[in-house]
Amino acid sequence: MSDKLIVFDTTLRDGEQSPGASMTHEEKVRIAKQLEKLRVDIIEAGFAAASNGDFESVRAIALAIKDSTVCSLARANDRDIARAGEALRGANSARIHTFIATSVLHMEKKLRMTPDQVFEQARLAVRFARQYTDNIEFSPEDGSRSDPDFLCRVLEAVIAEGATTINVADTVGYAVPEQYGEFIRNLRERIPNSDKAVWSVHCHDDLGLAVANSLAGIKIGGARQVECTINALGERAGNCSLEEVVMAVKTRKDYFGLDVDIDTAQIMPASRLVSGITGFVVQPNKAIVGANAFAHASGIHQDGVLKARQTYEIMRAEDVGWAANKIVLGKLSGRNAFKQRLHELGIELDSEQAVNEAFARFKDLADRKSEIFDEDIHALVSGEQGEAGEGAYRFVALAQRSETGERPHARVVFSENGKEVVAEAQGNGPVDATVNAIESHVRSDAELLLFSVNAITTGTESQGEVTMRLSRSGRIVNGVGADPDIVVASAKAYLSALNKLQSPVEKVHAQGV
Ligand code: KIV
Ligand code: ZN
Repeated sequence: MSDKLIVFDTTLRDGEQSPGASMTHEEKVRIAKQLEKLRVDIIEAGFAAASNGDFESVRAIALAIKDSTVCSLARANDRDIARAGEALRGANSARIHTFIATSVLHMEKKLRMTPDQVFEQARLAVRFARQYTDNIEFSPEDGSRSDPDFLCRVLEAVIAEGATTINVADTVGYAVPEQYGEFIRNLRERIPNSDKAVWSVHCHDDLGLAVANSLAGIKIGGARQVECTINALGERAGNCSLEEVVMAVKTRKDYFGLDVDIDTAQIMPASRLVSGITGFVVQPNKAIVGANAFAHASGIHQDGVLKARQTYEIMRAEDVGWAANKIVLGKLSGRNAFKQRLHELGIELDSEQAVNEAFARFKDLADRKSEIFDEDIHALVSGEQGEAGEGAYRFVALAQRSETGERPHARVVFSENGKEVVAEAQGNGPVDATVNAIESHVRSDAELLLFSVNAITTGTESQGEVTMRLSRSGRIVNGVGADPDIVVASAKAYLSALNKLQSPVEKVHAQGV
C-alpha cells in the first residue's frame, strides 16, 4: 500500500454545483492554475458534457495545466465519455471519471433501472472510456447507501475492465466515520482484484462529517485518494474541505503515516481566490482559512503563545499561507509591471484591450488606495469579464446622500446594452437606495437571498467585497463587486448578479436524471 495520499480537487466540478457558485471560463482557468501551484495531484476541471461552455473550460484547463492530472466527469454513457475524452485531448495527463448510482433508492427512483442494467452500464462505460485513456476513475454514486453485495459485484467488474481508481461516494452526506471506514475496508477485503485500483473517498458535509468521514475512509478503509474542494465548496452543505483534510494528515503524520504533495503555503491564496470569485465568504471561525483560525484572542492563550507557540498552536499560520499581505504594486507602477503581475497570478486576459481596461481600473484604484495587494488585483479582474462583464449591465457612477435622521438617496448611472441609464431612489440605507434605484429601471423580479460585505485585505483602507445572491424562477446566482466604497461595490455586485441571471442556462446537471 502506497504511503502517499492523492489529493483530487473538485472545486471546479462539485464545487461549482453549489447554487450560485458558477464561474466563468476565465475564472475556472485561473483557479486551475492556482490548484496546480498548490500541487494537487488531480484537478476535476468540470463535466464536459454539461454544455459547450463546460466542454471549452475543461479543454482550456487540459491545455493550460502541465503538472497536475486533469479530469472530466462523465455519466456512464458513450456520449458523455466521448465528450470528456475529446475535451481532455492534448492534456499532459488526463483522467476520465465516470459514475452511475448503485443504491436501490437511486436505481429504482432516479434511474428506473434494474441492478443488472446498472451493472452492465457501469462495465461498458469503463470499457468505452479506455479508448481515451488508461486513467479511469469509477464512482458508485450513493455508494455509502448501496448494498455491499451488489457493490462488490459492480466494482470487481469495473476494475476488471480497467478502472484504476474506485471512489466510494457518500453522495448525500449520510455516512458516519467508523461505519464508512469499515464499509470501504470490507469492500477492499471482499473484492478479489481490489488491489488493482486506488481507493478513494468522496464525502459531502450534510451532517458536518465530510472531513471526519474522509479521514476514517483513509485510516480505517485504506483509501489513498481524497476528493475535496477549496473552502469545502460543494453541493448543499459542501464537500470535504481540502485545507482541513490536508492539514489533518500533515499535522497528524504520527497517526496517519501518509505524505501529501501539497504546497501548503498556497492554501490561503487558493482560499481567497475561490471565495473572491464565487462570492462564498469564508466564516471567520473556519479551520485553517478563517480569519480567526490563528488569532489568539484570550489573554491566557496569547501569554502561552508568546512563551512557546506550541502551547496553543498546532500549526504555523505562515505554513498555510497566512504571511503578512505583500504590497505588490502602487500608484507609480506602469502597465508592464501590472501586466507582469497579472501573468504571475495566472490571470490571462484575452486581448490587449482587456489588459488596457484592467490597467485603467488599477490606476483608478491606486489613486484612491495607496497599497495594492494581490487580492486587490484578483478582485479587479473578477466579475469584469466573461458572462458577468459582457452582460447587459455595467456600472458607471454613483452618488449617494445619507445623513442621520434622513432617508438615504442614491443616483446610479449604469449602462444597459451600451446605453446609459440614470436611476434614482430612496431606501432605508445607502445600499437599499442603490438597489432600489437600479430596480426602478430594471424591474428584474429577482429575490435577494444574500447580501454580504467582506474586507478584501486589512485596515479601513481595504476594498469592500460585496456578494449579492439573487434568485429568479428557481435559478440562483451570485454577483460579486469590489471597491473601496462599499456602496459602489454593492452596485457592482448587484449588476453583476443581474447579468448572470440573464445569461442562458443550457447546462445539464451531472447527477440529475
Ligand atoms: O457526490 C457524488 O456522488 C458525486 C459523484 C459524481 C462522484 O459527486
Ligand atoms: Zn459529490
